[in-house]
Amino acid sequence: MSIKIGLLGFGTVASGIPFLLQENGQKIEEAAKDKLEIAKVLVKDDAEKERLVAAGHAYNFVTDVDAILSDDDIQIVVELMGRIEPAKTFITKALEAGKHVVSANKDLIATHGKELIALAQEKGLAFYYEAAVAGGIPILRTLANSLTSDKVTRILGVLNGTSNFMMTKMVDEGWTYDAALAEAQRLGYAESDPTNDVEGIDAAYKAVILSQFGFGMTIDFEQVDHQGISTITPDDVAVAQELGYVIKLVGDIRETATGISAEVSPTFLPKDHPLASVNDVMNAVFVESIGIGESMYYGPGAGQKPTATSVTADIVRIARRLSDNTVGKPFNEFSRETRLADASDVKSHYYFAITTPDEKGQLLRLAELFNAEDISFEQVLQQKASDNQARVVIITHSMSKTQLAHITDKLSAISDMTLLNTFKVLGE
Ligand SMILES: NC(=O)c1ccc[n+]([C@@H]2O[C@H](COP(=O)([O-])OP(=O)(O)OC[C@H]3O[C@@H](n4cnc5c(N)ncnc54)[C@H](OP(=O)(O)O)[C@@H]3O)[C@@H](O)[C@H]2O)c1
Repeated sequence: MSIKIGLLGFGTVASGIPFLLQENGQKIEEAAKDKLEIAKVLVKDDAEKERLVAAGHAYNFVTDVDAILSDDDIQIVVELMGRIEPAKTFITKALEAGKHVVSANKDLIATHGKELIALAQEKGLAFYYEAAVAGGIPILRTLANSLTSDKVTRILGVLNGTSNFMMTKMVDEGWTYDAALAEAQRLGYAESDPTNDVEGIDAAYKAVILSQFGFGMTIDFEQVDHQGISTITPDDVAVAQELGYVIKLVGDIRETATGISAEVSPTFLPKDHPLASVNDVMNAVFVESIGIGESMYYGPGAGQKPTATSVTADIVRIARRLSDNTVGKPFNEFSRETRLADASDVKSHYYFAITTPDEKGQLLRLAELFNAEDISFEQVLQQKASDNQARVVIITHSMSKTQLAHITDKLSAISDMTLLNTFKVLGE
């Protein structure tokens, strides 16, 4: 006997699974307490089927998903097609047909996970998706299992390899945003439409999932503020370096007295913060908790083998639970009422880059403006920007998002000053 699997899609990640099943076959079989067999693989059309067979893949390729869904011998369906549809419909049908499901589809899980998780629960089926956050880093199961006795207070993460690769080029080698994007596309890290990666959308999907595992709260994707890296200029990068910081796109989920907040934004990280040294396409999740204190989980956030390893671990876990007759427990059992933090409770230091007329009294004007909002300065830097313009950089003491909204509105309304950029600064 063996446990039969149906794969939906045979792209980068899915085609890494056969290698693992062969390479680590004995270990996997012992852990799963059964043999795992890829019984059928869904591909788009006959041409794709012929191409794969000609390339030496000896699988039973099918082009109609019903061939998998109506096959009673297939117990586990592994969705690795990506995008929302038809993945959502296929997973729903698989659960309705009584099949356990594994996916790596963060877009789908962040936007429709709630209903799929509920359906799996109702049917007593497993729905696992370890690879959906930080690909090869086993962070979800770590939060669900190893940190179950701990109270997580904040999760910070470098969660998108493409934007981190670009930021590394911009910070370490002084590249412009456009040059870094062109290189990321040339190397295949960024898609031709890079919006999800560079605008913080992909990282925001992961923040939604992390908020469930770390804080037991289900927030909607729309409730995650996200800002990308496209507005970061070489001037911002240079000033950050001068002041002892590195800029990275960081996901930040934390619990305040009023609830949780989740956001993704370019963030000034002190150079000695562990996340500051996470470079190139690597990912890391930095967890602050009461019991452990600070811990960081670092590794490849994407790539065929790392991601396929996480997917296969989910398959093995289901197979093991089937043998032990314990299948059907939710992937994440931590759940409590979702409360969103008041903006006045979400506090950070902030960086402001502002151009002002190059005349005396401008710093005083800014100080009065910030002071009226009860915001104080931690560091100030003034540089000549052009013949008649100065560039003022301010790093504030801790201030709330309410104060941020007020001061941003006020600065935007001043005709002879321009607010160039505002970024969060990680500080005490
Ligand atoms: N790649 C990574 O490193 C990584 C890391 C973490 C998570 N993930 C997630 O893993 C999933 C798979 O990613 P991937 O990189 O393997 O993607 P991929 O290389 O694009 O593979 C997806 C495959 O599914 C096929 N497909 C799409 N719709 C289909 C349909 N209706 N029927 C049959 N086949 C269909 C695609 O065919 P066409 O090419 O013809 O459309 C493609 O061959 C995604 O959800 C992704 O977000 C990937």
